[in-house]
Amino acid sequence: MSAQPSLSVRRLTAPDIRARKGGEPIVSLTAYLSTTAALADPHVDFLLVGDSVGMVMHGYASTVPVTVEQMIVHARAVVRGTRHALVVVDMPFGSYEEGPEAAFRSAVRIMKETDCGAVKLEGGARLAPTIRFLVERGIPVMAHIGLTPQSINTLGGFKAQGRTEAQWAAIEADAGAVAEAGAFAVVLEAIAAPLAERITGKVAIPTIGIGASAACDGQILVMDDMLGLTPQVPKFVKRFGEIGEAMSRAFGDYAAEVKSRQFPASAHTYAMAKAAKPKEGG
Ligand code: KIV
Repeated sequence: MSAQPSLSVRRLTAPDIRARKGGEPIVSLTAYLSTTAALADPHVDFLLVGDSVGMVMHGYASTVPVTVEQMIVHARAVVRGTRHALVVVDMPFGSYEEGPEAAFRSAVRIMKETDCGAVKLEGGARLAPTIRFLVERGIPVMAHIGLTPQSINTLGGFKAQGRTEAQWAAIEADAGAVAEAGAFAVVLEAIAAPLAERITGKVAIPTIGIGASAACDGQILVMDDMLGLTPQVPKFVKRFGEIGEAMSRAFGDYAAEVKSRQFPASAHTYAMAKAAKPKEGG
């Protein structure tokens, strides 16, 4: 048997996403686990193993404490659970800001240990030399501008960006700089809708909106937010399911059936094995 992966399903790549500029909207979600990634895989173009995993799955108040090791554990699970979507992995806070060489080492480790297809980092013009350094060395990079949650301590909170025209020039310059540096796409997070539309019309790479505009080239949402699993969500989240309520009901029903001894029923238990008949004359 060949050890090569099946050739019948071709996983999407960063160039495939890049080529979708101005075309059918790109669909994406975050994912952290192989089970839920597998369910989303047929419906999305890329899955982002976001550092939001720290807040969504580990109970942190921000994404700042997330480590490269945590990203690798979750990214491996998502890659194992999927075969169609491009898997993009967030570079966590502290793993790339020091400079291009440090970023390269972190990105190489993430790519080698997870088999993902691209990495994402937060920042605009300031990070352009790092993006260029990585791309020139074979690492596809998605950029992320606007509200950049890793900078929560300098931004002073999770605030929408570009809501006054005075802020537009800096954000537009960020978008232009990351595109020019070779990023294959850019996430626009919590950016005023008219600015997101303007950036989308100006840059040559796909814009992926989250709290931005339907005019973006694609959209991303945090999976647990859109499923109704997280108690509080930002204004820009639409809940496409109420899975939290369904889980809570199931847990309550289970507890009640255990207490009333309705569960397990005979269908869920094992009878004794039938004794073998003694052989005649034996
Ligand atoms: O970490 C994350 O989930 C993200 C998305 C919000 C784009 O970066």
